[in-house]
Amino acid sequence: MRSFLFLSFFTPSATAIWPIPVSYSSGNSVQFISEDVSFNWAGASNVGYVAFQNSPSSNSGYQSKLQRRYNANDKDWWARDDAPSADNESAGVTGDDIVDHAIKQAHNTIFKKGFVPWKFHPRGWEEPVQDQATSISCINLELLQADPDKVAKPLAGSVDESYTLSLTGDGHATITANSSVGLARGLNTFTQLFYKHSQDGVAYTLLAPVEIYDAPKFEHRGINLDVARNWIPVEDIKRTINAVAYSKMNRFHLHVTDAQSWPLEIPALPDLAAKGAYGPNMIYTVDDFAEIQKHAAVQGVELITEIDMPGHTSSVHYSGPDLIAAFNVQPDWNTYCAEPPCGSLKLNSSAVDDFLDTLMSDLLPRIYPYSAYFHTGGDEVNKNTYTLDDTVRSNDSAVLQPLMQKFIDRNHDQVRSLGLTPIVWEEMLLDWNLTLGDDVIVQSWQSDEAVASIVESGHKALVGNYKYWYLDCGKGQWLNFPQSSASSYWPFEDYCAPFHNWRLIYSKDPLEGVPTDKQHLVIGGEAHMWAEQTDPINLDPSIWPRAAAAAEVLWSGATDAQGLNRSQVDAAPRLSEFRERLVALGVRAEPIQMAFCIMNGTQCSLGTGG
Ligand SMILES: *[C@@H]1O[C@H](CO)[C@@H](O)[C@H](O)[C@H]1NC(C)=O
Ligand SMILES: *[C@@H]1O[C@H](CO)[C@@H](O)[C@H](O)[C@H]1NC(C)=O
Ligand SMILES: *[C@@H]1O[C@H](CO)[C@@H](O)[C@H](O)[C@H]1NC(C)=O
Ligand SMILES: *[C@@H]1O[C@H](CO)[C@@H](O)[C@H](O)[C@H]1NC(C)=O
Ligand SMILES: *[C@@H]1O[C@H](CO)[C@@H](O)[C@H](O)[C@H]1NC(C)=O
Ligand SMILES: *[C@@H]1O[C@H](CO)[C@@H](O)[C@H](O)[C@H]1NC(C)=O
Ligand SMILES: *[C@@H]1O[C@H](CO)[C@@H](O)[C@H](O)[C@H]1NC(C)=O
Repeated sequence: MRSFLFLSFFTPSATAIWPIPVSYSSGNSVQFISEDVSFNWAGASNVGYVAFQNSPSSNSGYQSKLQRRYNANDKDWWARDDAPSADNESAGVTGDDIVDHAIKQAHNTIFKKGFVPWKFHPRGWEEPVQDQATSISCINLELLQADPDKVAKPLAGSVDESYTLSLTGDGHATITANSSVGLARGLNTFTQLFYKHSQDGVAYTLLAPVEIYDAPKFEHRGINLDVARNWIPVEDIKRTINAVAYSKMNRFHLHVTDAQSWPLEIPALPDLAAKGAYGPNMIYTVDDFAEIQKHAAVQGVELITEIDMPGHTSSVHYSGPDLIAAFNVQPDWNTYCAEPPCGSLKLNSSAVDDFLDTLMSDLLPRIYPYSAYFHTGGDEVNKNTYTLDDTVRSNDSAVLQPLMQKFIDRNHDQVRSLGLTPIVWEEMLLDWNLTLGDDVIVQSWQSDEAVASIVESGHKALVGNYKYWYLDCGKGQWLNFPQSSASSYWPFEDYCAPFHNWRLIYSKDPLEGVPTDKQHLVIGGEAHMWAEQTDPINLDPSIWPRAAAAAEVLWSGATDAQGLNRSQVDAAPRLSEFRERLVALGVRAEPIQMAFCIMNGTQCSLGTGG
């Protein structure tokens, strides 16, 4: 595959595509595309051997491969219900579902969610005229091999997301991939080639011909959204997942419960949400949860549910006061926890064991159709909490450590018995010195040294250093300070200030400080949206487009083909363009620069010496 270093050589306008592909060449010809363009696709389940049932000519065999044809007039297909099915048998998502959805999404994105790119052209620019331009008639999708088992709920590394995209000078588009998810990624890239035309239902590219080969650098690319500290409605979560998928991230970590609220309905423990949620209309029902998981899976995004424990569980107190130690200790809460309300599941309690058995055997089978993972949390467990735990009454590590080991062993055995792989926060391994199963993925948040220690221990690691990839930092304190202490906290910065701007996020190499022979164990990372000061009103601009900077680092790597750190000068106009696309998709992402900076190449740089 030839590799072209071409950014801004051919055209001063942004050269589309975020995250940047592995190799990418394009021209500067205009091609138009109209709503009746057809998508030709064989279907994942029948590669090479059986005819697709609905195919117009139902002869069996390889010839029928390109006979599944979708276009805007295919009303049945457009109307097909995407609602999740309640029983396990038909729950879950297939490769065909993923491509079906990706075609619909691509069509909708190009024709209904496009944007007019005035910001990327000098003043007085005129959009191209359709008359003499080439038209794109069809997009051929070719699946090069059968999908792996569990294509929509893979373990890291088991789905090949690579794709090729070719748009020829005479308007033939072809996307090839080794999996349905790869086809979806390729269609995503395809949409990023087009701009909305003022004539309705018409879009055009300025970049034909195009040749792309692309594949992700890291296997696990995600964001973590806390939906427990403030209530985030289902629609807002789904919109966030859309943006995750559009950034070519493939994981959505739902931090679904915490000390402050328990918004997740658990039918076997009805009081958990009934009493632990902020209110009766702030609960994710069983159907909501299935819908969210399916909404992610069908976009090639695997949802990872986290029930953080044994700390961060105070909200269990409202339905099970006997299960929680040190509930809402006031006013000296900071002796017992990181933020109010304090509380931890008791560490040596058979009632807690029973509670977790019931919880897991209710919840995990509903996760199983959509995910290979379950996150059991384990961050910020404060030892002093257990001095107030009547089943322990100690804060001595020598007493607590074996109890914690037992707690986690039991927990993880159950996760495995229900077919899932456990993920934990780094403290379980690094602060509590627990022996974890080889399968356990350890998620780091505190430092690069922690990542190095995790992979040194042989575990797979997820990065997300809070100094770079915490999206909540820099908003200032959410705690109040009485007059007596206010002056010593002035100007009320939070612990991880300043605000992590996209350039800082973009500058972070996930492999920094990791020995070369252990780098394969860094399977990826996540940007984190903790929600102390985030709710639906500021959710989008708090995450986007900054999380997209992490998405490019995780997809494309922190360095370019020459091994140099990626240039923010090259990235800024592309990210600006991606931001416009997010806005067009209905995501209220913040601007990267003022329009002047991007209207004629990159006009806002400082320090041109190097
Ligand atoms: C755009 O930039 C080019 C090169 O810097 C310059 O020659 C041209 O005059 C600029 N055009 C406008 C409209 O600003
Ligand atoms: C598909 O798999 C083949 C063989 O492993 C590989 O060479 C190719 O790069 C992969 N991706 C695409 C898009 O063909
Ligand atoms: C649902 O899935 C779980 C876990 O795989 C399984 O134990 C259970 O029997 C399934 N239930 C139904 C109704 O199929
Ligand atoms: C844990 O509980 C058991 C039985 O309730 C008790 O015998 C044991 O001493 C407790 N362990 C600790 C460390 O407190
Ligand atoms: C345990 O509690 C004692 C007494 O409250 C306190 O002095 C000590 O610092 C605590 N130890 C830890 C590890 O927090
Ligand atoms: C884990 O090991 C470290 C270093 O040996 C030690 O400081 C720490 O107290 C241990 N933690 C527990 C819970 O035993
Ligand atoms: C590249 O980025 C890394 C941070 O990931 C930084 O430590 C290093 O100094 C940068 N290199 C150059 C040449 O700027």
